Order: sequence, then C-alpha cells, then structure tokens
Amino acid sequence: MPNQENIIKPARLSWDDSGNPYSEDYQDIYYAKADALAESSYIFLAANNLAERWQQLSNKNFIIGECGFGGGLNFLNTCKLWCEIFKKNSTNSTLYYLTCDLHPFTKDDLTYLHQKYPELGTYSDALLKIYPPLLSGIHSRDLNFGDKKVVLIFMLGNATEMFEQIYQANGFRVDAWYLDGFSPLLNSNMWDKLLCSALAALSKAETTLSTYSAAGLVKKSLRRNGFTIERKTGFANKRHMLVGKYNPIDQQNNSRQPAWFHIPNINQDDKRAIIIGAGLAGCSTASELAQTGWQVTLIEREPKIANKASGNPKGIVYCKLSNSTDAIANYYLHSFLFAVDHYEQFSKSNDIGWQSCGLVQIAFDEREKKRQIQAINKLSNLSFVRHLNSQEVNKISGVNIDNEGLFFPYSGFLNPRALCNAYTQHNNISCLTNTEALNLNFKNNIWQVEDSSANIVQAPIVIIANSHDASNFQQSRHYPLTKSFGQIDQYPVTELNSSLNCVVCGKGYVLPGSSDSQFIGGITNTDKALATNIRAVAEKNLELVKSMSPSLAKDYGKNVLTKSRTGVRCSSPDYLPLIGPVENKEQCQDIYAGLSRNAKKDFTQMAEHQTGLFINVAHGSHGLSSTPVAAKYLTNLINKSPLPLSNANANCLHPIRYLISNLKKQLL
Ligand SMILES: Cc1cc2nc3c(=O)[nH]c(=O)nc-3n(C[C@H](O)[C@H](O)[C@H](O)COP(=O)(O)OP(=O)(O)OC[C@H]3O[C@@H](n4cnc5c(N)ncnc54)[C@H](O)[C@@H]3O)c2cc1C
Ligand SMILES: C[S@@+](CC[C@H](N)C(=O)[O-])C[C@H]1O[C@@H](n2cnc3c(N)ncnc32)[C@H](O)[C@@H]1O
Repeated sequence: MPNQENIIKPARLSWDDSGNPYSEDYQDIYYAKADALAESSYIFLAANNLAERWQQLSNKNFIIGECGFGGGLNFLNTCKLWCEIFKKNSTNSTLYYLTCDLHPFTKDDLTYLHQKYPELGTYSDALLKIYPPLLSGIHSRDLNFGDKKVVLIFMLGNATEMFEQIYQANGFRVDAWYLDGFSPLLNSNMWDKLLCSALAALSKAETTLSTYSAAGLVKKSLRRNGFTIERKTGFANKRHMLVGKYNPIDQQNNSRQPAWFHIPNINQDDKRAIIIGAGLAGCSTASELAQTGWQVTLIEREPKIANKASGNPKGIVYCKLSNSTDAIANYYLHSFLFAVDHYEQFSKSNDIGWQSCGLVQIAFDEREKKRQIQAINKLSNLSFVRHLNSQEVNKISGVNIDNEGLFFPYSGFLNPRALCNAYTQHNNISCLTNTEALNLNFKNNIWQVEDSSANIVQAPIVIIANSHDASNFQQSRHYPLTKSFGQIDQYPVTELNSSLNCVVCGKGYVLPGSSDSQFIGGITNTDKALATNIRAVAEKNLELVKSMSPSLAKDYGKNVLTKSRTGVRCSSPDYLPLIGPVENKEQCQDIYAGLSRNAKKDFTQMAEHQTGLFINVAHGSHGLSSTPVAAKYLTNLINKSPLPLSNANANCLHPIRYLISNLKKQLL
C-alpha cells in the first residue's frame, strides 16, 4: 500500500462547457463565471494595491503568500503585472510567490485551463516547464522573464501545516496575502483559526491581505489574530469581499521548532562574504550570494578551483531513494528534484555538459529489490521515477543488464569542474587561489581569515566549505566529519559501451560516453593504501560493473585504462550534509546540558552561534544533488528570504544536530 505521507492527491475536477473547472472534492467553483482574470485582478492584485507598491519598491524583494494555488491564475496574473511594472526600468527585486495546495491540479489539467488565457501564455509556459511532481513538501523553483525574477515556492500539503513549517522567528515576513481557499462554508478545514494564527506569525506591519470571502467566521478569526479588516464591494454578483492589514501589537514567537534549531538574526548591512573552499559547495554558494548582491571572496588552497573532489570531468545527479517517508527521505527527493531543475535552467546559458539522459538504478540483489519495491510504492504515480522490468532495463539502457530496477528519466550527468567554473563567472566574485585559510578570528564584529603568509581577508560573513578540512578550524573542529576515497576511470569507446544510452548504477556506476571516452566509477574506500593504488582500485571498479553487467565489464576490461582520477569524499555519520549556522560549542553545551539528564527536556533558550559563521560540507557522494539546494538555502537564510526547504528538512541538516544528539546520548 502506498504510504499517504508522500503522496498528494490531485484535484478531482469536472469542466463546464466554457472550460471552467469545478472541484468535486470541495463541491465548489474555482472562479467567478463572469471573468476569472478580472476577478483575480480585482480581488487580489488591486485590493492589495500591488501596482502602486511595486512602483515604489526600489530594489527590495516582495513576498506574496497564497492559500490555494489551484489553477495558478492568480500566480500568472501576478507575474504579468510584475513584468509590466518593471518593463521599462530594470530592477534587482525578486518576487517571491509562496503558495500551497492540498489537492493541486495535475499538469494536464493546468495546461487545459491555461489554453483559455492566451494573454498569460508566456507565464503559463514558464510555469508548466517547472511544475513539480505532486510530492508533499516544498518545491522552490526560479522563473526568469528576461531580467525579471520570480521565485515560486509551491508547498504541497495542508495550508496551516505548510505555513507553520516555514516560520522562523528571525525569518522573512510576507508583504501581501491572497486568501483563496474556496467558500469557508464548504471548506472549514482551510479557514480554521490555526491558519489565521500561522498567517499572522508570518506577517509584519504593512502586510496586507484580501479575500473574496466576507464570511463572519473569517472576519472574526483574522481580527482575533491582529488583522484590521474592512468590507469592500465584491466582484461581479458577489456583494462583499474583505481587505485587511496586519498590526503587529502582540506578535509572539509562533515557532514549534526545538529551541536549538532556531536560526540566528543575521545583519546584512555590510554585504561582504568570504567562502573557504572552491569546490561544488563553495562555488554554488558564491554564485547564489553574488546574484543577490553580495561581494564574495572565494579562498582556495589549490592553484585552481574545483581541483579536489569536485574536479571530476563527469558526475551523475543521483537520487537516493529511501523506503521511509521521514524528513530525511523527503530531503533526498526534494534536493534531487531541485538539482535537476537547476541544471536544466543553468545549462541554457552555461556549458556544463548537462545530459539529461536518464538513470537506471539496478536491483543488484534481493535486499535491494525489496528496498526498491518498498520505495516505489511510496512514490507511485510520480513522473520522476518508475519501476522497470529486466527487458525494459535492457531496452532503455541499450545494453544487456538482465535485471530489474528503477528509472529516473530526468536524471543525468554533467561536468562538475565546468559547473564550478561557470558558477564563479560573476563580477561580484573574486577568487584567491593558492591561498590556504589557516585561522578564523572574530574581532570587532568582523571575521578575519588569515592565510599561511599572514595575509588577512575580512568580512562579516564567512562560510566554511572546505569539506573534511573544516576540522582544521577551531570553530568547526567538533563536527564528526569522515573521509572516503573514490576513483573514476576512463576507458576508450567500444562498439558495446557506446550503445549505452543512460547512466546505470548498482554498486558502482557507468556513464554513457562521448565520442572519445567512457567513464565508470564507484569504489568507496576508507583504506588510504588502496586509494593510492590506482590500478587496484580500477580492478575493483570493474568488479562492481561486473555485478551489474558482466558483458560490459568484460568489454571495458579488454581495453587499456585511459585515465583515472582519485578524490576524497567527506560525509557525516548520518550521511546528510551539514548546512547552516555554526554554533558556539561551549555555550550550547552549557545551555542544553540538561538533555544529558533528560533527553526530552524542553528548552526556550535559543542556541548561541558564532556570529556570521556558516558551514556547508559533507555532501558525501551526492554533491551534485545536494549542493544546489544547500547553496540556495544558505543564501536565503543569510538574506532572510523564503527558504527552499521546510523546517523539518532543514533541521536534518542543521550542524547543531550532532551536539544535541551527543548530549542526549550523554556523550559530552
Ligand atoms: C571519485 C569521485 C566520484 C564522485 N562522483 C560523484 C557523482 O557522480 N555525483 C555526485 O553527486 N557526487 C560525486 N562525488 C562526490 C562529489 O564530488 C562531492 O560530494 C563534492 O565534490 C563535494 O564538494 P565540496 O565542495 O564539499 O568538496 P571539494 O570539492 O573537496 O572542495 C573543497 C575545497 O576546499 C579546499 N580547501 C580545503 N581546505 C582549505 C583551506 N584551509 N583553505 C582554502 N581552501 C581549502 C580544497 O582544496 C577543495 O578545493 C564523487 C566524489 C569522488 C571522490
Ligand atoms: C479557489 S481555488 C484557488 C484558485 C487559485 N488561487 C487560482 O488562482 O487559480 C482553492 C484552492 O485551495 C485548495 N485548498 C483547499 N483546502 C486547502 C487546504 N486545507 N490546504 C491547502 N490548500 C487547500 C484547493 O485544492 C484549491 O486548489
């Protein structure tokens, strides 16, 4: 039986003769019969005074929150107005559109509805390209209309829970709310008082709201939560609607987060940042920060960037599927989907060798077969993964594998080194290569990073992204980072291996080649002695290929190895990266010492962090899947912009998790 936690049921719709949708789930219409677009403009765009507010925005970002994405007409209409307002004057502002749906449209239904609105064609095309699979949780996607930027944060799940999941005491606040969740009489679940309290927590002075509903229940609940509400003439034959403004008189910390996971308040007045380490983690973070106006100094010990683990000529974008539905499993799926969309967009203007050829994960033994079946049952009907029988595996991969497996059609491979180079081509990024960061000192509210020649670079924000060498800094020494060696081998092209159409993974992996080379890789090894013996590791890699396809392994083995490249992967004990603020270890040990006596003890005191110090390491063997969302997450955390991950997902990555779990296990 599919586990319902991951799966979101799409809207059950019927359509009238004019192509208007009707909700069978809620027994309600989506739009006024008169004119859905005029209704959207009147009730949401005009009532929130958007045109006037945007004309005075002066390069600040603007955040809209919506309850009920439905057919996305409000979204498309809002994008259209945003682009029209900034048509003449270019802007650095980004529009964040935070929306949710419990029963979203399928892509086919969305396409059908949008045909009715050719004036929204540009925006609909862009939306349909990035419309996420109906997997619960947060899907953050960038849409660019020329130089106009829109970020859609689409939360699939119940509105109240979703808005609670993105609240951070020191986080962003919404500028305008669209409350569009069917009639309260037919959908009281959406309009409960908890929702109004979640909306209030995410509001600030000047936050506005509007809704087509004028129901007493809605008015009462909004007023009770600090909104001043006024009645206005409704649209078409509807007598009234509501508009409102938030008065933050008694705003309270609405967070349900454990105190240690709170993010610190970050000062963004001085927009200079230093990133230590120019691999995938460092370069992707530099790129995101630079795009949001930060001056970034990237410090790299090697003579060139991407010279260590991130320097492979090819790497696969792999999805770690879990047979659980917990926050960790949800993070793997979301980071993978985010990465695939990111490479699809980024490769349009950057040559990173992105090949979306698909990827087969072979069920190489009975245990793996069982695990795959359990995992796929939890994700049935989602387009990004499907089960293949052994004939289908042979057909799709183009070689005889003779085993069943899972197929990820949007996955593929790219050139990580080219990716790092492309990330750093920004005027706001300067790279200091041949420079080893030795010490970090925080003096007069600024970080001083000292290199081996005693040169000092200064900035209020420092991001440690130097993989396992993070253990060399006093501030991050306590994180449990582990190393493992890996090797990728390059072989000449043969008739057999050139028939490979997609990436095939089992215990090792093989990539389809270009005209001049074929790549295989995979060995993960903690034995340093073996790691220096390239020939021996290549043999082991061939053995792994043999376990997936003996004929392919034999074919590679006949030829002389063209080249090999060895590198070190950095992981942490739970195999998840460490992404977030660096805590002050001693102070946090004192604050949360009570956990070693009572692991369930509640705390209200927030963690003490090293001001302005962040970490982004331990991407293990999945750097290509996890660094894009990690970079966006850290950047938005620093900028106080809406985050691309739910709190539950982000907590699994929070660096303080190890200190807390050690206290609970009485290991400190
Ligand atoms: C053989 C192999 C194959 C792999 N294949 C894949 C794959 O197919 N798909 C995938 O997703 N992942 C793959 N990985 C994993 C992936 O490469 C890593 O997850 C990723 O590169 C990690 O990036 P990073 O930036 O954290 O680390 P790194 O790339 O190691 O970057 C850290 C950088 O910090 C620099 N540095 C260290 N200390 C200092 C200091 N004190 N001052 C200045 N600079 C410093 C280092 O020189 C280095 O450049 C593979 C790894 C290996 C080894
Ligand atoms: C009137 S429609 C929204 C129309 C949409 N704003 C547009 O522009 O096309 C209401 C939407 O709210 C969604 N919804 C209803 N109850 C919900 C809940 N509790 N949580 C999240 N979404 C909900 C419905 O699935 C539906 O898509």
